[in-house]
Amino acid sequence: MQPGGEKSLPMDLSHHFSEVAKRRVPNEMKRAYQLFQIPGIRNLAGGLPNAQFFPFDTLEAQAARPERWSPSAVSLDGSAAGRSSGQGATAAHIAVPKVSGERDIIKRIDLSTALQYGQAQGYPPLLSWVRQFTREILLPDFGYRGGPDVAMSCGSTDAFAKVLNLFVNSWTEGVNDVGERPGLLCETFVYGIPLSEGLPRGMQVVPIESDESGISPGDLENTLAGWDSSKGKRPHIMYTVTLGHNPTGNVVSLERKKEVYAVCSKYDVIIVEDEPYWYLQFPSAAAEEAKSRGHTAPSPATLFQPATSTGYPFIDSLTPTFLKIDTDGRVIRLDTFSKTVAPGCRLGWITAQPAVVERYIRITETSTQQPSGFVQSLVAELIIGPQPEARSAFARATLSGTAHKFTGWQMSGWIRWLSGLRGSYERRMVRMCQTLDAGMDLIQSKSPRPSLISNRDSDSDWGTITKTNILSYSWPRGGMFVWLRIKFECHPLWHAPSGKGIPVDGPMLSTALLMFLTRKPYLVIAAPGPMFSSSPEIRNARGWAYYRLCFAAETDENVEASSQKFVEGVHAFWKIKSVEEIEKLLDSFPHMADVRDLAEGLGQIGALFGC
Ligand SMILES: Cc1ncc(COP(=O)(O)O)c(C=O)c1O
Repeated sequence: MQPGGEKSLPMDLSHHFSEVAKRRVPNEMKRAYQLFQIPGIRNLAGGLPNAQFFPFDTLEAQAARPERWSPSAVSLDGSAAGRSSGQGATAAHIAVPKVSGERDIIKRIDLSTALQYGQAQGYPPLLSWVRQFTREILLPDFGYRGGPDVAMSCGSTDAFAKVLNLFVNSWTEGVNDVGERPGLLCETFVYGIPLSEGLPRGMQVVPIESDESGISPGDLENTLAGWDSSKGKRPHIMYTVTLGHNPTGNVVSLERKKEVYAVCSKYDVIIVEDEPYWYLQFPSAAAEEAKSRGHTAPSPATLFQPATSTGYPFIDSLTPTFLKIDTDGRVIRLDTFSKTVAPGCRLGWITAQPAVVERYIRITETSTQQPSGFVQSLVAELIIGPQPEARSAFARATLSGTAHKFTGWQMSGWIRWLSGLRGSYERRMVRMCQTLDAGMDLIQSKSPRPSLISNRDSDSDWGTITKTNILSYSWPRGGMFVWLRIKFECHPLWHAPSGKGIPVDGPMLSTALLMFLTRKPYLVIAAPGPMFSSSPEIRNARGWAYYRLCFAAETDENVEASSQKFVEGVHAFWKIKSVEEIEKLLDSFPHMADVRDLAEGLGQIGALFGC
């Protein structure tokens, strides 16, 4: 903030740009496209196929209305999550016409423009809507003068790869100087694809201790302050998920974000926050967790209260993004339609200071060029709705000539859709957690020893009931996942000698459990912790002790039954008393060439699970 209260411009981050990103120049062809917009211009320049030859006359779909799913039956103070189900199959017909007479490119949604080569920043109507949504709804008050800009992506995976392209010089051992080796800061447990993008570029992954409140600012400070340059360049980029973390389900408070931001600002670190689950925050989780476990109810959740309301209580109640406190312009946020519309859309956007977005667009111009026009126009049609011109064009094109009634979801419909999704996922989360809570302890009764039945004067010889806690976890505060700690160290075979001459350990039991669960009658697959361990050290020391369960993938009816099968499977696994049985399970683990140990093998099967 400058004297007089005026916000400062975002800082210049060009010293962080990769050499390749610095050398990129605007694509002259793309610049020339603006000239094609001149009304009445005769185009003898562009190598564009004529839209007449596109084999699609319309693009039509039957699509949900925003009210399809019930929002959480939870008051915004976090009391009881209800169980109301979705409201059925309300749907509307949407159609993108071939040609709309609309001249304003940010209002024109038609196939002749959407299926043509277009601008790398995004399809104008959708880009304009995303810009409005980001700047007015997600981020009504931003930290630097002018605020951020947006550009479309083909989803967050694509956007992150481009961000690394923008900020990271590839490094090769034995070729480049060690002091130049780039680093990637991240949480201890992390969604793996970003690491898989960074590692082949020679990046050094630098895990920072993280707890239920998020990244530890203390550990971040210690790591950066005591950085040993003989191991590489002090990291200048951090990857983080703060709202419904994958895999831990944490939501990082604004207070913690401020502390982490201060350290990043001190050491000039760029923050890339990847937030596909930002709208899935569960205010009921703490209260429902206490109720399910018979604990005293926590004080009502204090929901975030923005200084100025967006006019949408659902949005106002959500913990905000790092962007909100970004006064330097060092935050890049990745958003995606993968979890709000569908992953196959391959559509999302980045939000960052304009100079960063400008370099990002340069990278897009020579790689993906733009997200698919089919997807951009259909999503635009769904959310924004047809403009009057397009509506009559469509009516003319249909046999009946009936006017097209669909008006698009509009902003309020979009937010209603998000709150319905939140409600649906929250109800699933509650059902899964209630089932898991009922199975956290293994209850075993031991019968009196037959030889002693006649001699009953010693209490210790009577049948006893033992309770062993084998699962522990917190109900997720957001996202799609439950992050379970499985207490393998309490398994009867823990450290028993195995045929291979090494005692049964955590990675062995974790792998054996994975295989055991996939057998009848359990038939469940869960994601083992090594998949999410950000380093081999974390994987071997503690990653094996966790499993991630997703309450999103199964059908509504199956969430409870699948969780129950998981619990039954874990309990039955505890009854295995022979090391040979564990070894047989391990032998059935899919063989992977060049995998050195079990924990690494578990980590690698992540690739098979997608996300
Ligand atoms: C944290 C996180 N980021 C990104 C993605 C993938 O996003 P997209 O489909 O937009 O590439 C996922 C998918 O599970 C995810 O969990």
